Parts: sequence; C-alpha cells; structure tokens
Amino acid sequence: MAQPRGQFSSKIGFLLAAAGSAVGLGNIWGFPTQAASNGGGAFLVVYLFLAFILAYPALMAELTIGRYARANVITALEGLSSNSSARRAGQFVGIAAVAVAVFILSFYAIVAGWMLAEFFSPLAAKLKATNVELWLDDTSFTRNALVCGLMSILTAAIIARGVEKGIEAWSTRLMPLLFAILLGLIVYVLIQPGAMSGLAAYLIPAPSQLLNPQLILSALGQAFFSLSLGVGTMLIYGSYLRDTDNLPRMGVSVTLLDTGFAFTAGLLILPAIYVADARGIAVFSEAGHLIAGPDLIFQVLPALFDSMGSTGSWVAIAFFALMSIAALTSAISLLEVPVSVCVERWQITRPTAACLSGGLIFLISLIIVWHFETLFNAVITATTVYGQPLLGIALCVFAGWVLHRHQLLKELSQGHPEIEHTLFWKVWPFYVRFVCPALIILTFLQSLR
Ligand code: TRP
Repeated sequence: MAQPRGQFSSKIGFLLAAAGSAVGLGNIWGFPTQAASNGGGAFLVVYLFLAFILAYPALMAELTIGRYARANVITALEGLSSNSSARRAGQFVGIAAVAVAVFILSFYAIVAGWMLAEFFSPLAAKLKATNVELWLDDTSFTRNALVCGLMSILTAAIIARGVEKGIEAWSTRLMPLLFAILLGLIVYVLIQPGAMSGLAAYLIPAPSQLLNPQLILSALGQAFFSLSLGVGTMLIYGSYLRDTDNLPRMGVSVTLLDTGFAFTAGLLILPAIYVADARGIAVFSEAGHLIAGPDLIFQVLPALFDSMGSTGSWVAIAFFALMSIAALTSAISLLEVPVSVCVERWQITRPTAACLSGGLIFLISLIIVWHFETLFNAVITATTVYGQPLLGIALCVFAGWVLHRHQLLKELSQGHPEIEHTLFWKVWPFYVRFVCPALIILTFLQSLR
C-alpha cells in the first residue's frame, strides 16, 4: 500500500468516533418514535436485549475482521482466505457492502440536510431575514438539494483530513457537545406540564407486548441500523484500532454508549410528545396512532417549539443542532467506507477520494430528491430491510467460518492476553458461526411474510 494507514491515536478517540458513527438520527429519532408506537417500555426492554445478544456479537465480527486484515472492506474480506472461491465471495460481499453504504449515505444526507434547514430557519427568523426563513421552510427541490449539498461538503471535508485529524478530531469535539445539548433539552422539557405522562409511557413496559413478533423485528432492525452494522463501517473503524486495544471491551463500550444514547434520547422525545399533547397540538393521527414518522420531527416538534414563545426558538435551534451534529458524525463513517477503498485499492489521494465519492453520492441524493415519491422509501427499504441483515449474516459467516479459530484467537488476544479464559471466548466463536446467522435469517424471513 503506497500511503501509510491512519490510526486512532487513543482509546477514547476510537470510542468517540465509533459512538459518533453509531449515535445518529437512528438513536434520537428512530428509537424513541419506534418505542412510542410499539408499547413504550416493552420496546425498550426487547431492544436492549437484542442489542447485546445479537448486535454486539455481529459488531465484534466486524471489528475483529477489520483489525485482523487492516484494510478496507473489499480487500479485508478478499484476503481472509487463500482459497480462490472464498476470495471471490469476499470480493463480492465487499463490493455489495460498499454499494449499500453508498446508498444509505445518499438518503441519510438528504434527511441530515433537512435537519440543517430546520436549524437555520429559526436563526434566520432571529436575524429578521424573513425571505430566507420562508425559503428554508419551503420543501422545494432547490432547498433540499442545497442543504443536502452543504451536509455532503461538511462530510467530505472531515473525511478528506484523514483518521486522526478528521474523524477522530471532529468526533471528539462534537460528541460531548451533542451530549450536553441533549441533557440541556431533557431538563427543559421535563419541567413542562405533561412531561411526566410521557415518561411513564416510555418507562413502564406493557408486558403483553414483549413477545409481539412485529415488535421484536422492529427492535432488531433498529439495533442493526443503530450500531451501523453490515456495511463495513465498523470494520474500517476496527482496522484503525491499535494492536494494544482490547477488542471485546471496546465493542461493549460502543454498544453501551449507543444504547445509552438511544435510551437518553427517549427521555427527551417521549416527554416532548406528551408536552405537545398537553398544549393542544395534535400528536395522534385520526386512527389513534401516535404520529411517529417525519411528521413528528417536522410538524409536531416545531409546533411545540412555536408554542413556547421566544424561548421556543432557542430550543428549536438547540434541538436541530443536536440532530445535525448526530447526523454528521454518522455520515462521515459511511463516507469512509468508499473512500478507504479508493485510497487503498486505487492509490487515489484521500482528499481526491473524498471529493469523488462525496460527489457521486451527492448526485445519487439529487436523483432521489428529484424522484422523491418513487425512490426515497424504496432506497431505505432496499438498504436497511434487505441489504443490512443479509450483509450482516455474510460478515458473521466470514468471521466464524472463513477466519480460523487460531487466527481469531491470535487477533483477539492482542490487547487482551487472557482472552482464552474468558466467557467471551467460550461463547462468541460458536455464536458468530451458528447463532447469529440463524437468528438473523429467522427474523429476516419473518419480515418477508
Ligand atoms: N447508526 C447511525 C444512526 O443510528 C447511522 C449509520 C452510520 C449507519 N453508519 C451506518 C447505518 C452504517 C447503517 C450502516 O443513525
């Protein structure tokens, strides 16, 4: 490889970067609203359970392959075995992973752009720039294209700077800020009338719901999306980890940070919905369901902020800053997947690779915005409902069947010499070979019915 590979400079740098990838719109928007429409506390319990018993082992598969191979997803999977059909299978899965990452980013950047627009709109109002405010509030093609373009430029600019100065430096700055804004907003919302019923709906599980197959399926999808699994994001981050770092412990920390953030975001969103309800804002659809999709974020919450007078616009600014930052640190991890391929396989320089991949993805986003009705949901379903679980199975199979036990043990015992005597080593290799693929297939089949 012509250029030296980047590396995270510290444990905490890796943790914040990996948590930055994991914590995104999926945590702050997806998780709380899914919990709200799926039995509240019951969803929370099932989600936490699945995150640790299924998503964590799959995360470990990606981190281990990444650090073992020290390469981008295609080169890594291709190089795990010297057998030519295993190599070809690796190359195929690697290319599919890059393609799915590219398409996930192309819709993610659109949604992230909306967050930027909602962030700038109350700022424009504060500056009395009424025309700008009206333009930002109107969901025109030009507005969507411009804010998505801005998000894409920010993402590419960070990735162009490399692992330590780009991904690590920016995640280390943005993640604490994200947490501070989230806590500030929670405190503010919890003292509003109505907040406590939201808290009760969130935290008290409806036991009858615990075994509902639909709920289990949504919780699994949520756990996979939230931990950024299946497309090689965690694989490439793992490849930048130092040999001295303890992989199983890093994986647990990332899972804890991700689920912890999702849980905490629920403490904001669910009470906010009930505060809006107490203020007479419609939060239930005519059929009696909680409004959960885009309407929650772009109608219910803005209406709530409006009803709070002049403090409300500051709350809105803080809330959408929170969303934009969370989206940005996730978007960079998605862009790193194709960029690392360009840099390592074709020896393109990082800044050029970031511009090229970022530019191509932006073009795809533009096509999606242009044919929004037909393409937007189709791309989301193809990538997250089909692509991610299938690739997740493939990655578990590569870690469990293609990498040999002694290779796994050698890799994992770097940074954790006593691994052979831990429960992790007794359970996990068997688990990624049989249990993870089987459970993912089962849930996947369920979803096809
Ligand atoms: N996990 C992020 C979220 O919760 C999104 C994300 C980043 C992602 N990288 C990914 C999702 C890779 C799937 C695959 O919003």
